[in-house]
Formats: sequence, C-alpha cells, structure tokens
Amino acid sequence: MFETLPDPKLDGIIALMQAFAEDPRLGKVDLGVGVYRDEAGRTPVMQAVKAAEQHIVETQESKTYLSLAGDAAFLDTMRDLLLGGAVPASRVAAVGTPGGTAAVRQICELIRRAHAQATVWISAQTWPNHSPLIAAAGLPTRPYRYLDPESGALDRAGLLADLEEISAGDVVLLHGCCHNPTGVDPTPQDWAEIAALLDRRGAVPFVDMAYQGFGAGLDADAGGLRHLAARLPEILVAASCSKNFGLYRERVGLAMAIVPEGQRARLAGTLAGLSRRAFAFPPDHGGRVVSTILGDARLRHIWQVELYEMRDRVAANRRGLADALRAETGSDQFGFIAAQQGMFSLLPLSPEQIERLRAEHGIYMLGDGRVNMAGLNAQSVPVLAQAMAQVLR
Ligand SMILES: Cc1ncc(COP(=O)(O)O)c(C=O)c1O
Repeated sequence: MFETLPDPKLDGIIALMQAFAEDPRLGKVDLGVGVYRDEAGRTPVMQAVKAAEQHIVETQESKTYLSLAGDAAFLDTMRDLLLGGAVPASRVAAVGTPGGTAAVRQICELIRRAHAQATVWISAQTWPNHSPLIAAAGLPTRPYRYLDPESGALDRAGLLADLEEISAGDVVLLHGCCHNPTGVDPTPQDWAEIAALLDRRGAVPFVDMAYQGFGAGLDADAGGLRHLAARLPEILVAASCSKNFGLYRERVGLAMAIVPEGQRARLAGTLAGLSRRAFAFPPDHGGRVVSTILGDARLRHIWQVELYEMRDRVAANRRGLADALRAETGSDQFGFIAAQQGMFSLLPLSPEQIERLRAEHGIYMLGDGRVNMAGLNAQSVPVLAQAMAQVLR
C-alpha cells in the first residue's frame, strides 16, 4: 500500500533545526525557528502561566469532555482581547483549535463549505505554512504585493492595486500584526484603506493574529482587526496563543467568524461540526491557562508585564542590529530593521550569502533571509553584523 508514497519533503524550518542541532561549533547562532528566546537563549514558561497552572491543578475537579467549541471562558476572554468590544458578542462565533495552525486550517474548511469558488489572497511574503494549509482545504491562492524590498516598508500602492482585482466572495488573508516574515505592518491609515477596498469589492478579510502584544501593544496590535470588524459585515479570524502566552506545545488557538446579527448560531454550529470531523474537542489545558490569566486582574497584570518585556527585548535587538550594521557597513540601508516590529525580518541576502553565513560563521537563518530577532543577544548582534558585512563585501 505504501510503496508508491512519495518521499516526504522535509519542511525548511525543521531541516534547519536539525542542521543546527548537528553543528558542533560553540558560537553557532540560531535565527531560524520562530520562538521567543531570552538573553540566555531560553524559552521559559511565563510566571503568569505557572501561577495559572498551579491554580488549575488545585481546583480542577474533572477532565470530562466539554462542548465541541471548548471552554466558553477561553473563547469569551479571547474574543474580548482580540476585538475589544468592536462588535457585539452576538455577532461572534468561535471554537477552540489546537493552535493557530488548526485555526487557519479550520477557517479554510469553513470558506470552502460556504463558497468553494473563493480564492484566498495571500501576501507575497507570508508564513510558509499558509499556502499548504489553504491548499489542503482545496482552495486556490493568489499573491498580493506586500513588502517593498528597496525600503523594507509596506508596498502600499502595490498591495492596493493588486487587491483591486479581487472578486466578490474572495478572501484576503492579512496578518493582524507583526507580519511573519517581514515585520512590516499596515498603519492605521493603511488598514482603513484596505477595509474600504474590501468593503467596496465585497471581499472577506481573514485575519491571522499570532503575535498580539509583540508590536505596539495589545490594543494597538488589534487595531486593524477591530477596524475591519467595525466596518465590514463578515470577518474571519485565526488566533494563536503560542507566542504571547508562551504556550507553544500546549496548542492553544481559536477560529472565529464575525457575521451579521442572526447568523451566529449557524456559524458556531458549522465550526463545531468541522471540529468534530478534524479533531473533535480542542485541547483544554492551555486555553484554561489563558482564561485563568485574562480573567484575573493580578495574573493579567503579571502576564502583560512579561509579554512587554519580551516585546521590548526583541525591539532592543532590532535597534542593536541596525546600529551594528550601520557601523560595520557605513550604510543606512539596514535602518528598516529597527523600524519593523515583531520577531521577524527578511534580510536582503542572496542564497549564496545565507549559505556562507551558515558555513563560515555558524549563523542559521531561513533560505529567504528570514531571521528571528529574538534569537539574538548582546554577544551575537555584533557577530551577525560583522559576518553580514563580510559576506556583503
Ligand atoms: C503567522 C502565523 N500564523 C499562525 C501561526 C501558528 O502558530 P501555532 O499553530 O503554533 O499556534 C504562526 C506560528 O508561527 C504564525 O507565525
């Protein structure tokens, strides 16, 4: 039965992780995998998470099944964190999912059920898993321009021009904040223009929110989503708590559909039915940690302080690298690194230069030049800047 099965292609990030693990050099630097790291290179459990887990261990009396949608407190607190009251709860249907990945996948299943002819428009640079997840649900994708490689900023004119071609009922996937891999986000003015365009064309925005709190702040990072929610009749959302709660392996996420009044129950039932056929019930523990934190003023404060510490460390690495590159190369060409936000930037390096950084300097990044800014520290910032200056010479 399995002889004709093609050999699987190793995922680029997983292959890079393996190569890094096998590299015996002491000073090697891992900028590949997209997890937060502290100055010592660790990805610690947040204090607020530990306290919430302790509370759950002491008070939880049963682990029997919940509804297919998962823990209602998780869904309600996350709805408020994401939407901040931009739309009434009566317009929001949501289900818990195993991480943001499954949220993206389940939303794609929902799109196919509702409108099998829909094309999902994705930014030309995007999280490498977006295309495969959309394709797995049987939907076609089309790219829209996003990053202006010259300035390292948003190609606003290109984006708006490309989205003029969308058909009514098409879906436009947008990163809520801290765009992965570019670190470039629309301004509030850009969001308003995108919302107006989608409204005019009858297209549906699909917001992937995986880094809320890592950019300008919890509310500001959701500003684009909230603007869309206030303006348009239908919005799809996939959210992940992997990064901002550090709950990566617990698999915490949710799929949300914001719909006109009167349609909530149909959407909630459809999403629950799709869950039933994919994984039935979402994992509970991580979602319960999130709702315990968000529902308790003291824990929420501790969490927010920790989250902003992570955010500030990444931003300091960005400034440090931009400064070090200015000093090493004598050029301002890398100033965009400090202006971008979130964990990722795309460095303008050729495949050969990226390979030289790995082979000659033990510096690992993805093949398109994506670096995880959280992987840097005071030691590795100058190492990277010097090595880049060398391979760029
Ligand atoms: C843009 C984006 N969406 C979704 C996810 C999904 O994360 P997870 O499934 O680990 O919650 C990620 C994780 O890297 C991401 O970068």
